[in-house]
Amino acid sequence: MSELERWQGRYAATEYVFGEEPNAFLAAQKDLLPKSGKALAVADGEARNGVWLAAQGLDVLSIDFSSNAQDKARALAARRGVTIDLQITDVHAFPYPENTFDVVVEIFTQFSTPDERALKWAGMLRTLKPGGLLLIEGYTPKQLVYKTGGPKELDRLYTREMLETAFGALSKYEIKDYETHMSEGGGHAGMAAVVDLVGWK
Ligand SMILES: C[S@@+](CC[C@H](N)C(=O)[O-])C[C@H]1O[C@@H](n2cnc3c(N)ncnc32)[C@H](O)[C@@H]1O
Repeated sequence: MSELERWQGRYAATEYVFGEEPNAFLAAQKDLLPKSGKALAVADGEARNGVWLAAQGLDVLSIDFSSNAQDKARALAARRGVTIDLQITDVHAFPYPENTFDVVVEIFTQFSTPDERALKWAGMLRTLKPGGLLLIEGYTPKQLVYKTGGPKELDRLYTREMLETAFGALSKYEIKDYETHMSEGGGHAGMAAVVDLVGWK
């Protein structure tokens, strides 16, 4: 089974795999968001995060390769009374046009191999406008102990050092790694080891 088939199968369920509420780290950054502007949500799935960003006044492009996820994203946006742009694409093939987005959000997208991740992160940095806000949350290697979501491959997990190397050129950033209790639908439930980045280009 391909990765796309696997995700299409997960998203065929009627319930929202990661819930309908935004990721807790993202929601906690509410006061840092601009009141208007363009936001890119990378591998946004059923768009719990993209829909929340739109409700904060942002013009959101939500990208993911699963059409089943985006059907549910469309329904969630309609229920919440917001509009988001949805694009079906492989995030490793997306062009990430230069200096385009005021906010770029990447929440739990740890399917990338190291080479794919380098391409994706370079694209995310390129597409952020100068002064734009970058928000990332991912699992750390300790998540292999908790097994409450995320990949099984060590090289897909994020570390503080990895984020510092990739995003050290940001004008300002803060990275936190910690353990927390997650309750995000059936997909992420229980104790988890995560690392977050909040940064400005
Ligand atoms: C763990 S889910 C997280 C979804 C969303 N970011 C959230 O927090 O609710 C990972 C997402 O990556 C998507 N995905 C996996 N590989 C992809 C790829 N190569 N290109 C685009 N999307 C991909 C899946 O369809 C899924 O929606």
